[in-house]
Amino acid sequence: MNKNKVYIETYGCQMNFADTELVMGILSNKGYQITKDIAEANVILLNTCSIRDNAEQRIYGRLGNLKVIKDDNPETVIGILGCMAERLRKELIEERKIVDLLVGPDEYRRLPEFINTAFAGEKGIGVKLSRTETYDDIIPFREDGLSAWISVMRGCDKFCTFCVVPFTRGRERSRSLNSVIDEIKRLSERGFKEVTLLGQNVNSYNDGGNDFADLLAASASVDSQIRIRFTTSHPQDLSDKLLYTIAEYPNICNYIHLPVQSGSNRILELMNRTYTIEHYLNLIDKARKIIPGVSFSTDIISGFPTETYEDHLQTLEVMQTVGYDGAYMFKYSPREGTKAYNMKDDVPDEVKTKRLNEIIDLQHKISYEINQKMIGTEEIILVEGPSKKSDAFLAGRTDTNKVTIFPKAENIHPGDYVKVKINRATSATLFGEYTGRVRSITTVESARSGRLKRTSTKSGRTLVSANTKS
Ligand code: 5AD
Ligand code: SF4
Repeated sequence: MNKNKVYIETYGCQMNFADTELVMGILSNKGYQITKDIAEANVILLNTCSIRDNAEQRIYGRLGNLKVIKDDNPETVIGILGCMAERLRKELIEERKIVDLLVGPDEYRRLPEFINTAFAGEKGIGVKLSRTETYDDIIPFREDGLSAWISVMRGCDKFCTFCVVPFTRGRERSRSLNSVIDEIKRLSERGFKEVTLLGQNVNSYNDGGNDFADLLAASASVDSQIRIRFTTSHPQDLSDKLLYTIAEYPNICNYIHLPVQSGSNRILELMNRTYTIEHYLNLIDKARKIIPGVSFSTDIISGFPTETYEDHLQTLEVMQTVGYDGAYMFKYSPREGTKAYNMKDDVPDEVKTKRLNEIIDLQHKISYEINQKMIGTEEIILVEGPSKKSDAFLAGRTDTNKVTIFPKAENIHPGDYVKVKINRATSATLFGEYTGRVRSITTVESARSGRLKRTSTKSGRTLVSANTKS
């Protein structure tokens, strides 16, 4: 029997968290035990991120800590998975002697083989990218819970000039619709209540005749009590069909992560984002008409090469115009191999920081104002468990992904949908009181919005279609 015990730490985006579950699936099929205790592991893996320099610096710091373990027990295999394995390759092996294993995102199937190579005293290296690997047939190793991430496509063909992802994760390819649906069925049987479909650019999902809207519709039809989320959407590829699909299915969350990156057309062009701010704002307007109550989040980069104060002001202006519920905000970090790396990183770090702080402050203010307007409304919350601060309170999320805290109520458990009346809000959290249980999110949300009518399908399942379409 395989006595090896694997410990794995994950850094970076949700794709990496989903990949870690794949890796654990692959290893446990080969008889490896997965452990949460690093002290008992003889294989220690870090699933890494290269998106910005500080992400990589964290991993270098962690490798420094792991050296102590390796010194005590030289038999321990230490491996780097993910984007850094792909990006740094030889450098990591040569400079960091404690690294025995380097396996990039498209070579996880061969991980058991590479681990054996490392146990035999050689370096296990697998960093080839693939045009076809989707791990379609691999069942990820997931603990029981409420929320699951499912990666539906891999790689990215967009080549934004600042981004290393097309180089570390390779070309875009989609999983088959059927394999995604089978995975959601298994999750439904296990009692999961929320599924997030993942890809660097889910809108270019393509499985023969099926596009992302088809995948989303099929996902939502598996179990009407599972909330469906998805990320990330590229503003160039978001179709009307997709917007109508979100409107049509009450269990597809009214929430779109739509990275804008910058408010300046000049900078967007330098970034190769392939849309203008006018196109972006039109899209937001259209989405709001088709999906009443839809909310948005975004990604913003401050201090891209040549960014002027005027460009920065335009970013602040777009933030105000859209009124994002949330934003992920970053300082530009030059990545070797990208096109922007050849541009001069000419915005001084203090200026990047100052602009970033202005962006963060504005977003706080916008989120606070949006949340204040929710006071007095009743929201449907998926209960996740006790709140972090006190067992006397429960925490859950709204359809638009806002954390909501309310006093514990009789017989309410994680996984239940409940109604909560909001009576207080900060920029990050809603607070309220329990007003009742929700039997079915399909019926309640359609009745509430008043824009949806019920129709019966051939299978007898109740679907809901939007009359906004006609
Ligand atoms: N510097 C700063 N932020 C970056 N992102 C991607 N590459 C860089 C970079 N080189 C941000 C983008 C992207 C998010 C995932 O990370 O905003 O949407
Ligand atoms: Fe990177 Fe752009 Fe692809 Fe997103 S769409 S992963 S930012 S290249």
